[in-house]
Amino acid sequence: MKKLEMLYEGKAKRVYKTDDVTKYWIEYKDDATAFNGEKKGSIHDKGIVNNKMSALLFKVVEASGVPTHFESLVNDREQIVKAVKILPLEVIVRNVAAGSLAKRLGLEEGYTMNETVLEFCYKDDALGDPMINEYHIAAMNFASKDQVALIKTYALKVNEILKAYFMDKGLNLIDFKLEFGDYNGEVILADEISPDTCRLWDSQTHKKMDKDRFRRDLGDVESTYQEVLERLTEGSTHA
Ligand code: C5P
Repeated sequence: MKKLEMLYEGKAKRVYKTDDVTKYWIEYKDDATAFNGEKKGSIHDKGIVNNKMSALLFKVVEASGVPTHFESLVNDREQIVKAVKILPLEVIVRNVAAGSLAKRLGLEEGYTMNETVLEFCYKDDALGDPMINEYHIAAMNFASKDQVALIKTYALKVNEILKAYFMDKGLNLIDFKLEFGDYNGEVILADEISPDTCRLWDSQTHKKMDKDRFRRDLGDVESTYQEVLERLTEGSTHA
């Protein structure tokens, strides 16, 4: 497969066309942003960690029956994916209160909730990705009701798969963000699953093992990203 012209450059990835119209070529960057682009920096080799971790987790999720855009790894920083049309939604799944939810509801980070929480945001940087509900999604035609129903089922299933998977590696999955795409009328999981898009806390020490180390200047950013990848790839049980 040939890498052709760049279609789009996002904050963390570049997307290229290929000589196969049904496939895109994705390049993961080391660039890091937070607070809707207000904080900018770089995390050495983050692109490698996120590329490898996304590939691994997309395979895990796909094996459990959730279709994903992942096709194959090209090298440390690049992968081939299905050429989806990304739906303009950020789907957030929360197992434990943290981040913006803890702030909004005045909760201690780490507060145990009775149930898993699912949130939708409208994917629009200029608006700061505002939270929306299913009425907004239908009213603005961001996705059909059938697509939303499937997205909810997939998001909760991905949560169950990943919670168990990370638990085995000594990591608690606190919350995460998913994006879905339309692939010839089929809804499939797209974007990435990485320490940029998940909150992961060490099961024993509760150390933050994710992008909050960059967002909040907690130090050990690079080494923590590397450690997460090592835990996922070495196959041993930390729990
Ligand atoms: O900031 P907030 O608490 O709403 O984030 C919830 C989860 O979604 C976190 O795991 C965060 O990394 C992820 N997220 C993301 N991209 C965004 C917003 C949130 O990956 N634009």
